[in-house]
Amino acid sequence: MIEMQNVYKTYPNGVVALNDVSVRIKQGEFVYVVGPSGAGKSTFIKMMYREEKPTSGTIMVHGVNLEKLKDSKVPLLRRNIGVVFQDFKLLPKLTVYENVAFALEVIEESPKVIRQKVMEVLELVGLKHKVRSYPSELSGGEQQRVSIARSIVNSPKIVIADEPTGNLDPETSWGIMELFEKINSRGTTIVMATHNREIVNTIRRRVIAMENGKIVRDEAKGEYGYEA
Ligand SMILES: Nc1ncnc2c1ncn2[C@@H]1O[C@H](COP(=O)(O)OP(=O)(O)OP(=O)(O)O)[C@@H](O)[C@H]1O
Ligand SMILES: [Mg+2]
Repeated sequence: MIEMQNVYKTYPNGVVALNDVSVRIKQGEFVYVVGPSGAGKSTFIKMMYREEKPTSGTIMVHGVNLEKLKDSKVPLLRRNIGVVFQDFKLLPKLTVYENVAFALEVIEESPKVIRQKVMEVLELVGLKHKVRSYPSELSGGEQQRVSIARSIVNSPKIVIADEPTGNLDPETSWGIMELFEKINSRGTTIVMATHNREIVNTIRRRVIAMENGKIVRDEAKGEYGYEA
């Protein structure tokens, strides 16, 4: 599903963000990526959907070698990977419905298929009643639900989330986590960078811990493991 071999990433400013990272993530896994700020978590995740390219090393996603993937084929890769961010990244001038539909419209689905799929995912995230609202009219938790709906509307096999609960209060965060659990239970692989110790230590899943650009721990049903 996702495989990295000896991946290094040095940014143009000379910062070594990934230092010999090798990992294999199987279809259907739920993986937390933890570690101190600057450890390389976001960089690690960005490698998976080719937001950043490695300086060296091999990355395979769905059997595709990303090194050999032409730039013109990157949209195809992204269609199979949903991405969720800490700050939601919704389009402010579009309604909830339009924000979710946008992901499908860009691949030229028919209006009927779009409507069906959009309503289905909005129902899944519990926001069917907000289809006509604008992002500014929603709470943070609701906005994150919309962005999750958008990330799964193409039925991707992988959902990648970079601190999806980072801007949310604890109770709202739990609701968002339940949603990721639900998506994972349908067979979707989840890779999530998080600083949320309570969640990691409660919903026990595989934990990949990073420090200084290296994987320092990789445990099934692991713990958060860092002091506040
Ligand atoms: N575009 C960039 N250009 C230069 N350096 C970068 C860039 N992005 C990240 N870095 C550096 O690479 C290192 C790893 O950053 P990264 O964002 O992957 O860390 P992180 O583990 O996600 O941190 P956080 O928990 O704060 O989100 C840091 O030293 C950071 O300053
Ligand atoms: Mg980060």
